[in-house]
Amino acid sequence: MVRFSDRANSIRPTGVRRMFDMAGDDSIQFGLGEPDFQPPPVAIEAFSRAMDEGKNKYTTTAGLPSLRGKIAEMWHHLDPSLDEENVCITMSGTNGLLDIFLALVQPGDNVMLPEPYFPLYPPDVVICGGEPNLYPCTFENGFVPTIEDLESRVDENTVAILYNFPSNPTGGNVTETQRDQLVDFAIRHDLWLITDEVYDRIVYDTPHVSFLGAGYDKVIMVQSFSKTFAMTGWRIGYLLSPDDDAMAQLTKMQYYVTACSNDAMQHAVLEALESAPNYPEEMCEEFKARRDLICQRLNAIPGVSCHVPTGAFYVFPKVDVPGMNSEEIAMALLEGGVLCSPGTAFGEMGEGHLRFAYTIGREDIDRGMDRVETVLRELRGD
Ligand SMILES: Cc1ncc(COP(=O)(O)O)c(C=O)c1O
Repeated sequence: MVRFSDRANSIRPTGVRRMFDMAGDDSIQFGLGEPDFQPPPVAIEAFSRAMDEGKNKYTTTAGLPSLRGKIAEMWHHLDPSLDEENVCITMSGTNGLLDIFLALVQPGDNVMLPEPYFPLYPPDVVICGGEPNLYPCTFENGFVPTIEDLESRVDENTVAILYNFPSNPTGGNVTETQRDQLVDFAIRHDLWLITDEVYDRIVYDTPHVSFLGAGYDKVIMVQSFSKTFAMTGWRIGYLLSPDDDAMAQLTKMQYYVTACSNDAMQHAVLEALESAPNYPEEMCEEFKARRDLICQRLNAIPGVSCHVPTGAFYVFPKVDVPGMNSEEIAMALLEGGVLCSPGTAFGEMGEGHLRFAYTIGREDIDRGMDRVETVLRELRGD
């Protein structure tokens, strides 16, 4: 008899990928969250050079001390006590998230997760034997949770809360005041605070508000170079915590998940950090122009209402077509030549929304929005 684990059987493939696989070649794709840029040329050259120089070996589990030291230094403005021991290089944010849940979650524990969510969070918690405890991030509240909603969900089995700002899929972000209230909540309940800040360098209008250095050391930050340096296919990121015990446990998990990250690539990322430190801000200028364009186009369509996000490269508008749910609307748009994600790919609370990633050029955004407008006007009979 063929038998698979309950854990494997209980999780499903993500809805984002399913739509992507169905898209025709000529569809305009607002589907996947990856920058349409290439990594900085200095990083590509450094990668190739490092391989030529024989840097093709295992590194220590936590990664190259020089890269870890550089990363720690980058966060000194928030916490000057950080050093290389507070950093573990991973093979992506995805890898880092799994390390965290492996290190923190016991059977019967629950982890508070935002909904709508990055689709890996709940399955990751389940894989590690825990239960997702979802808290709402509503359109009405700018996609930031209310403390009342958090208080009504936390219980004696809650071990951690995960915040994700700027957010995938909503583009939601916090002010310093909101951040402080969310930190206070974690302190009040003695929870691990997991902060997924992989979009920290993709911010507009105001500087990034981090959960690091905000008065609480029981914090673990998930980071990635996927978005920062347009390196989604390289698979590299890191975990950072001011808590030494957490770092020891996370690094141990990292060893059993991938042993270490990629040697030559770590040299390439170090080069990018040293020689192209402003690369993310250069990409951001273009993302900002796209954000303005897509928000303006969406808000001009009857039945569509969209916040102007201050971070990441997603918009998560409310889309109202009477009698149709978000999956049906996304399917109709796909038939009309536009790929986007139904809000429910990010949890049930995403119902009534669509996610558009503005990771395509402005001309394509305009053409795509023409199609969206035509399809939605037809569906609504406007
Ligand atoms: C919120 C969030 N966290 C983590 C990740 C993981 O990124 P990666 O595995 O490419 O580092 C992503 C990727 O889309 C994301 O959107």
